[in-house]
Amino acid sequence: MTDKQRIGVYPGTFDPVTKGHLHLIRRASKLVDKLVVGVAGNARKHPFFTQEERIDMLRTDIANMTGKRCEIEVVGFDNLLIHFAADMNASCIFRGLRAVSDFDYEFQMTGMNAKLNAEIETVFLMAADKWQFVSSSFVKEICSLDGDVSEIVTPNVEQRLKAKLAEKGQ
Ligand code: COA
Repeated sequence: MTDKQRIGVYPGTFDPVTKGHLHLIRRASKLVDKLVVGVAGNARKHPFFTQEERIDMLRTDIANMTGKRCEIEVVGFDNLLIHFAADMNASCIFRGLRAVSDFDYEFQMTGMNAKLNAEIETVFLMAADKWQFVSSSFVKEICSLDGDVSEIVTPNVEQRLKAKLAEKGQ
């Protein structure tokens, strides 16, 4: 047994962070000594919010979160996930699985990451029933069409979404 700190990375685009993501962060915080929430620039996905805005929303929501069990840091990254995780001295990467449809993509990504660095394990946490159908795209669509998103995002994110939609004239 060593006294080395166990560090985990939970990566995502978080465009924007949802209560489903926050539930996963709280659960992952029980399993490591330090959790790094990695916010991918992910230009490929053409995010609605800038990386700085996504980081900022996460920091606010995590600061307000109850029941977290370890230190949680929010860090942006633009390189390969596996390189980012190694830079953070992480021994594992957490991913959430919602439905069977997530499995294919996650399976490929895990295989590829394991080829790049077999020392870092991917750990899957099943999303709770309540958050099975939540996605950031749905949140943006519902909000842009004047639907109620208060059940799925925090007031902080809801406010930022409305302001951003108004700023973009949508
Ligand atoms: N609750 C609610 N929603 C969830 C969720 C949860 N627990 N977990 C995932 N989601 C949703 C997200 O909101 C998102 O919805 P959207 O597609 O409508 O935007 C979707 O599921 C997937 O999002 P996310 O978990 O953020 O993953 P991602 O596919 O956007 O990003 C990275 C995955 C960042 C890990 C990946 O792009 C990456 O590794 N990038 C770095 C480059 C790299 O290393 N590439 C090689 C990989 S082998």
